Amino acid sequence: YGEFEFIVVSNRLPVDRVSTTDSSTWRRSPGGLVTALAPVMSKADGAWVGWHGAPDESLDAFDHDNMRLVPVPLTEDEVEFYYEGFSNATLWPLYHDVIAPPEFHRHWYDSYRRVNERFAQATAAVAAEGATVWVQDYQMQLVPKMLRAARPDLKIGFFNHIPFPPLEIFAQLPWRRQVIEGLLGADLIGFQRPSDASNFLRCVRRFVGHTVRQQQVQVEVEEGGPTYTSRAEAFPISIDVDQIITLANREDIIERSKEIRRELGNPKHILLGVDRLDYTKGIGHRLKAYEELLADGHVKVEDAALIQVASPSRERVEQYRLLREEIEGAVGRINGTYDTIKNTAIRYLHHSYPVEEMVALYLAADVMLITALRDGMNLVAKEYVAARTGNSGALVLSEFAGAADTLRQAVLINPHDIDGLKAAIVTAVNMSPAEATRRMRIMRRQVLQNDVERWSKTFLTALQEGNDDNPQEA
Ligand code: G6P
Repeated sequence: YGEFEFIVVSNRLPVDRVSTTDSSTWRRSPGGLVTALAPVMSKADGAWVGWHGAPDESLDAFDHDNMRLVPVPLTEDEVEFYYEGFSNATLWPLYHDVIAPPEFHRHWYDSYRRVNERFAQATAAVAAEGATVWVQDYQMQLVPKMLRAARPDLKIGFFNHIPFPPLEIFAQLPWRRQVIEGLLGADLIGFQRPSDASNFLRCVRRFVGHTVRQQQVQVEVEEGGPTYTSRAEAFPISIDVDQIITLANREDIIERSKEIRRELGNPKHILLGVDRLDYTKGIGHRLKAYEELLADGHVKVEDAALIQVASPSRERVEQYRLLREEIEGAVGRINGTYDTIKNTAIRYLHHSYPVEEMVALYLAADVMLITALRDGMNLVAKEYVAARTGNSGALVLSEFAGAADTLRQAVLINPHDIDGLKAAIVTAVNMSPAEATRRMRIMRRQVLQNDVERWSKTFLTALQEGNDDNPQEA
């Protein structure tokens, strides 16, 4: 047995190894999972098992920010088949309403299974007897079952950061039974929205035929053998609210936000989009609506500036390459048509920025645009709300993001409805300060009361308290 009582397992470690020919450094990993879990882990004194982002490179475990990082190596082929292939060209589109067509390849699944096995082994090696292990996200769905087989003494939780699809879509997956059984290895399976949990439970009934009662599933360890209970429930994730508020109150960051406004030429309205460059985010829909608003004259290039931060993501996956071409083509066309020597319609930034710069952007933005076609939660929505310490600003938010379940005072939109989206942008841009404040107050209360610490405590308490009848074998 290992020495750690609490272990998080995810595809990525919170930092990526970036190597050049003569040096290597560490950089914060992209995405919502790391945003949410890094603050939880830095207080937990545990171990984090994950990939360090560099192919064909083995590294020893090391300490970082109050936790032990345990790097799991991936070969170049595994990066292609397990990560870019099965995780991000099969599961990702399948779980996001097949916005892009998922591809099914048997050698991708084989690689996924082998890599999941490696993660399970690495975790089993560092876990103390009776430890709690929290497995994260769609890249790791087979790990719970593998881990339970290797170490029946562990408490195993799983959290899915992305949506869980409706049965009719999940049914396409040739390995649907293996995935469901893999997940059922956990004592507790967490999802973002109640609808994700109920989609999952329908798939459990249909594809493995287990009895489901009140979100609880009776699972047999082996056929006719002993049983245990696995539970599926919603635990909507959040952000490190204190961190964002602290930054939003920092003099230099407030000054930077003013500087951003000045550098844009003091426009009347600053609109902001912040996304990984991903086809689930509806960036193209947003640009189309904005282009039409410029064409109709409802938005004028002298009055308004749209900043679109599109952070690089999964750049070797075909659909992401196509998306980049599409978005950059659209930005070029729109700017070419509406820019003047003095004004630029869209500031397109294909970069990722440190959180300090992000908060300065949130402070500078009068309107935040979130137009996801499907999104597990969307933590950018919560960060924007947390950063608006003065209670001003308007949030345009897609109904298809998990955040829309709780941020009901946003201007809610269906991004497929371009006229509706245009109307919502106009509403947000012209919202009276009093109305904006009324809405932002309610949203801020919601976000401030439900930060990520509360999320992890709620999940981990449910994991410890639930299923007491489950035999945890030594
Ligand atoms: C989403 C996923 C995470 C993933 C992140 C960044 O937030 O839920 O699991 O880590 O995107 O994507 P990447 O493929 O770069 O890890």
